[in-house]
Amino acid sequence: MTLFIDLPFELLVAVLAYIGPREALRLSSVCSRLKTVLYSIEWAAETLACHVSPHIKRTFLLANHDLLFLNGPPQLQTTYARMYLMPLGIIVWSGSDIGYKAGSAALPAALCSLTNLTILTLSACKRVGSIPSELKNLKLLRALDFSNNQLSGLIPSDIGSLVNLEYLILSNNEFEGPIPSSLANLKGLTKLLLNGNKLEGHLPEFLGQLKSLQQLALCGNRLEGNIPSSFGQLSQLVLLDLSHNSLSGRIPRELKNLEKLTSLCLNDNHLIGDIPVEITRLHNLKINVSNNLLRQDLTSGIQLHEALGLVLGIVLVLDGVFNFLGR
Ligand SMILES: *[C@@H]1O[C@H](CO)[C@@H](O)[C@H](O)[C@H]1NC(C)=O
Ligand SMILES: *[C@@H]1O[C@H](CO)[C@@H](O)[C@H](O)[C@H]1NC(C)=O
Repeated sequence: MTLFIDLPFELLVAVLAYIGPREALRLSSVCSRLKTVLYSIEWAAETLACHVSPHIKRTFLLANHDLLFLNGPPQLQTTYARMYLMPLGIIVWSGSDIGYKAGSAALPAALCSLTNLTILTLSACKRVGSIPSELKNLKLLRALDFSNNQLSGLIPSDIGSLVNLEYLILSNNEFEGPIPSSLANLKGLTKLLLNGNKLEGHLPEFLGQLKSLQQLALCGNRLEGNIPSSFGQLSQLVLLDLSHNSLSGRIPRELKNLEKLTSLCLNDNHLIGDIPVEITRLHNLKINVSNNLLRQDLTSGIQLHEALGLVLGIVLVLDGVFNFLGR
């Protein structure tokens, strides 16, 4: 009597392809022979031929079967991506993770071969590990959103070669190390959200050269040092959130040039000195500077601010000194 697992490779491929990917992949832990078959390119191709219509209507939202294949072994991922996902320009995978296995998994490296992508969102889908270096192949990318996962390691400096990026959103992961200097190449960035990670080092001066930025959120990291005065050149900035770091030094007077700013969050740092009066003259600006080491007697300036606040709709939050909401 021949055991199932002793069947010739081609027969095993055919049988395992026939029973369907979800069921077959469950068998990969049974023994190494089955695993070899299930990780082979032959099984991947045969399974796709049996179970996926070549005419599936593509939308940019990944369907359940896409997730199944993209959570599969590397060969299956690659074959699937090449055969079915190549023309896609947009992938949005957000929220639930409906793969054949529950729990967390790495970012599917196969997505990095989809060179037509302009928008890639994998948000809150329980991804762990680091960003694959192949991501640099996606030269057309305009928006990259990997927020709310558990990604770790450095932010790869290769991201700086994606010169068409307008949105770079890596919020709420476990990235560490410095903000890579290669981001200086991303002159078209309008949204740079790196908040809620473990980034450390100084706030780089070069961020002030990213003149298109409208939203810059670096809050909730371990950044230290001064706020560079170059930030005063970000004339399109609407939101600047640097709160919950270990920033020190004074609030640069140059921030007064940020005429479009509506929200300035500097709370929970180690800033000293006072709030430059020019900044509070900006229209419709909400400023939070709570929990810093600012001067406790912000005298004449503050009284002026108070009056202006009521007129211009400024909200200034200063724990232990003043608290008024004038909107
Ligand atoms: C990329 O998109 C273009 C234009 O839509 C299309 O002609 C081309 O075939 C796509 N490339 C791939 C690899 O599918
Ligand atoms: C300002 O920051 C403090 C300290 O973190 C926080 O408790 C408060 O809710 C913030 N206020 C506003 C209006 O955001």
